[in-house]
Amino acid sequence: MSDAAWTAVDDYIVDHLIGADAALDAALIANEAGGLPAIDVSAAQGKMLHLLARMAGARHILEVGTLGGYSTIWLARALPEDGRLVTLELESHHADVARGNIAVAGFAGKVDIRVGPAIGSLDAMIAAGEGPFDFIFIDADKPSNVAYLRAALALGRTGTTIVVDNVIREGGVLDATSDDDRIRGTRALFEAVAAEPRLSATAVQTVGAKKWDGFLLAVVNGPV
Ligand code: SAH
Ligand code: DHB
Ligand code: MG
Repeated sequence: MSDAAWTAVDDYIVDHLIGADAALDAALIANEAGGLPAIDVSAAQGKMLHLLARMAGARHILEVGTLGGYSTIWLARALPEDGRLVTLELESHHADVARGNIAVAGFAGKVDIRVGPAIGSLDAMIAAGEGPFDFIFIDADKPSNVAYLRAALALGRTGTTIVVDNVIREGGVLDATSDDDRIRGTRALFEAVAAEPRLSATAVQTVGAKKWDGFLLAVVNGPV
């Protein structure tokens, strides 16, 4: 199987199970026009995040790494009427594009974009006693993933779902001697999750329009 076949299968999945989507198509066009990198989750992955958030009954969602808000929109669609989503983004230009996309999709009233280094935003949220969040999606700078995991634990509760994107990187995760900080950060994440009794976790490899990568999935266990 080649990348072309993976993309063709993603197209088949979209044709059958997802369909045309004006707001998300417009978001991707606005992202491109704004010069944002095309590193959003795929449509099939976005719908998976949406379904996971619904399965979790999420009313409060936290996202780390907004980009143009493509995954944000998928997640916001999982929220009930009184639900809220906080999404953290370093780059003010990305946040501006995302704000527009999220408004077009009809979620300006439910989504709060906070601009700045996510570590600072998360520390402020912990200090302010925000949360608990029911569903947390981590998809920003990979070297910070252990710090984001620690913050997710502080901002979650028993039963919170934590999903981390890009944990396979075309198998790069296996390279124990990598000098790529993203690989090192991903491997450190696996070590941290493995050593954390409060989490039950797995990782699932994916292929498709976004090549060979994968998600780490975890749930916060109750007190033991
Ligand atoms: N979740 C998005 C993709 C996010 S791409 C989607 O699927 O649609 C990763 C984003 O993380 C980029 O927009 C990047 O600017 C942002 N980012 C990188 N470092 C960051 C940091 N330290 N704090 C917050 N956001 C950061
Ligand atoms: C990159 C980041 C992502 O979140 C992603 O899904 C793909 C690539 C990157 O930084 O290269
Ligand atoms: Mg990603």
